[in-house]
Amino acid sequence: MTTLAILTAAGSGSRLGRDLPKALVELDGFPLVLHAARRLAASGVVDSLVVTSPGGLVGVMTDLLAGDPHVPVPVVVTDGGPTRQASVAAGLALARSTDDIVLVHDAARPLVPADLVQRVVGAVRNGHRAVVPGLPVTDTVKQVRPDGDAELVTGTPDRSMLRAVQTPQGFDRELLVRAHHEGAARALAEHLAATDDAGLVEALGEPVHIVAGDAAAFKITTERDLWFASLVLQETHA
Ligand code: CTP
Ligand code: MG
Repeated sequence: MTTLAILTAAGSGSRLGRDLPKALVELDGFPLVLHAARRLAASGVVDSLVVTSPGGLVGVMTDLLAGDPHVPVPVVVTDGGPTRQASVAAGLALARSTDDIVLVHDAARPLVPADLVQRVVGAVRNGHRAVVPGLPVTDTVKQVRPDGDAELVTGTPDRSMLRAVQTPQGFDRELLVRAHHEGAARALAEHLAATDDAGLVEALGEPVHIVAGDAAAFKITTERDLWFASLVLQETHA
């Protein structure tokens, strides 16, 4: 039995605002997607990769990943979809029946540590069918609704019961396939689509478990995040 990782890299990176897709933006001389693929491979618990590509770049992404000596696992690159959810579904369509575990990881989290990947896969191997890394929330979070030119606070959830979730998220393949099948109608539009895969499993009423996340697996959304990631790498090299 094998573990497949779907690496989502098909987004445009509109909040980063570069003239190329976020997954191809360089950090320390290498594209984000290559950092993420190397980290997944380095975990030793990922047997193959399916990477979702922005339109027209399947060849570029294949050349980048398939020939890399630090990605010593089979890599298939496929076109992504209009939303992250659609991209994951496209990748999942390429899973094989021997892949009993499927991880979904964002190329936008290039510095994911190997032991986080191992922790997620280990928890699925131990019988949890949907596993998500999460960190305690340090900010107080308000729930709001629109109110004229401002927003009205409607509640303050108990922070100790909140977790900020990351990727990779790990699943029993059959459960993830069912979750994407049942939620497929949402994949067409950004305002309907699930922002993570666990959300689709929750919608089935199936349990999702949290394991400890890692601050190093932070997501690159803006220029500030990219700047911070380069500082983190400089520290590691020092
Ligand atoms: N992603 C994807 N297919 C999409 C949209 C997003 O594969 N249609 C991937 C991105 O490449 C990224 C991950 O999902 O690795 C998380 O998405 P996000 O951080 O929102 O990236 P973008 O959608 O590229 O950024 P933005 O929302 O700022 O445009
Ligand atoms: Mg996005």
